[in-house]
Amino acid sequence: MSPDGIMYVVGGSASQRLSAELARVLKAKLAKVEIKRFPDDECYVRIDEELEGEDVFLVQTTWPDKNIVELFLLQDAIREFDVSSLTTVVPYFGYARQDKQFKTGEPISARAIARLIQSNTDEFITVDIHASSVIDWFDGVSAKNAHAYPEIGKFLKAKGTQMVLSPDEGRWDNAKRIADVISCDADYLVKERLDGETVTMTPKSLDVKGKRVAIVDDIISTGSTIVKAAEQLRKHGAAHIVAACTHGVFARDAVTKLKACCDEIYSTDTIENPTTTISVASQIARMAMD
Ligand code: R5P
Repeated sequence: MSPDGIMYVVGGSASQRLSAELARVLKAKLAKVEIKRFPDDECYVRIDEELEGEDVFLVQTTWPDKNIVELFLLQDAIREFDVSSLTTVVPYFGYARQDKQFKTGEPISARAIARLIQSNTDEFITVDIHASSVIDWFDGVSAKNAHAYPEIGKFLKAKGTQMVLSPDEGRWDNAKRIADVISCDADYLVKERLDGETVTMTPKSLDVKGKRVAIVDDIISTGSTIVKAAEQLRKHGAAHIVAACTHGVFARDAVTKLKACCDEIYSTDTIENPTTTISVASQIARMAMD
């Protein structure tokens, strides 16, 4: 902790709403920052605060790509002050799904981004990282993964959710935790991804007749996963279908596809978009103070 006990939150342009909420939860000062683009689209940032000796949280989602460069510039601008500590918070870690080399000649993209971020920070915090290997690639700096499930669970409980469905066996743990917060049942489907936009689900008998069901996932990208899961729920007589995720990427026409099969769509503030209704600020703050 810095001598005057003041903490600062610096918000990147991808995470303005979450930065303000994190500053409120941490009782920190939200730094005045100027961010603009030159005519050639290069980024300019300037921090209009005196950060010498302070503890600083930088919050910036690294998606889409231009926000990665902005993050590096903000890290550098913060380091120009002799800060007491810099914690880089990346609420949604873009490239986390590219965590393996499938063919010779490919990079491990998530590792490449992790290495660049860690080179200019003391600590790193992210939220519901898609592949835990990303955390392990942070070498020599503390790296932590906060979870959105307590907040998503509270929110879905207030919405009267009677059952939680994971559209993928791999995300069953998360669905179960959300169901535990709500105190309701949970189930999962078995999904196979054929390509970036096509998935299939193994048919399965689901006890959802007349129920309010929430399909929960870490990321909604093209929406194909949720659409297939919603088809199964309708087939088995679900009365009301909610789609909820931590990271609402919503690529291309995902929202239109989802609106055609789900009654409600919600996401957290790791990516700010019109479906953002749940804040992960208190979970990030908890992780930071751990
Ligand atoms: C996959 O493993 C993830 O948990 C999500 O299910 C996936 O990223 C969703 O992608 P899409 O919305 O494109 O189906």
